[in-house]
Amino acid sequence: MSESVTLKDGRVVRIRGVEPGDAPALSAYIAALAEDAPYIGMTPGETPSPEKVRERIAEMGERPGSVGLLAEAGGEVVGDCWLMAMPRVKMRHVGQIGMAIADGWRGAGLGRALLERVLGHGRVSEHVWRIELGVLHENAPAIALYESLGFVREGYYPGRFRQSDGALLDDIIMGMWVGPGPDSAQKM
Ligand SMILES: CC(C)(COP(=O)(O)OP(=O)(O)OC[C@H]1O[C@@H](n2cnc3c(N)ncnc32)[C@H](O)[C@@H]1OP(=O)(O)O)[C@@H](O)C(=O)NCCC(=O)NCCS
Repeated sequence: MSESVTLKDGRVVRIRGVEPGDAPALSAYIAALAEDAPYIGMTPGETPSPEKVRERIAEMGERPGSVGLLAEAGGEVVGDCWLMAMPRVKMRHVGQIGMAIADGWRGAGLGRALLERVLGHGRVSEHVWRIELGVLHENAPAIALYESLGFVREGYYPGRFRQSDGALLDDIIMGMWVGPGPDSAQKM
């Protein structure tokens, strides 16, 4: 897919599927996120090389139900959102979301635009039944976005992330069922 999307502030981005040739640009974009975004799980120096990103794109193609979208503007990646099915046979029905928006592009509707499209893919997939993610408890914008699109809080890992200032932040587990789920699950 490739789609032109006008954001709330009038800027226009193109949203399209991630391709192997995007690996260098995605690697640079993730490195910049690690410098500026406090709720990203990686510190500068831990971010993936272009080769690692290329491997991830290849894995996405090998795991049915997975999808990766990016938003670009002016030749640069300004946002991404991935749904990656788990690799193990017994967990292949579970897809995990990872997403971010570049500094300067947040709060304009791009996160919602990307996640809606990725969830749309997840809902029609025969393979992914459950979609889950982890989010730091202080990350109010992200939690508001996820709840508004149907994710529910299912639990948390206390103090799972230690910030550079020493603060221990809880990792909230959120999930959504888009296929057959256990009787205990809340469904869409
Ligand atoms: C969290 C993030 C992905 C959201 O994307 P975004 O493009 O900024 O969000 P949007 O503009 O699409 O807003 C979506 C919703 O988020 C919420 N939101 C956005 N900014 C907010 C803010 N500053 N405070 C509270 N809620 C906010 C609103 O509920 C908004 O709903 P609306 O569409 O009805 O206005 C983005 O801000 C980001 O990348 N942050 C840094 C990295 C990160 O936290 N990644 C997620 C890790 S789990």
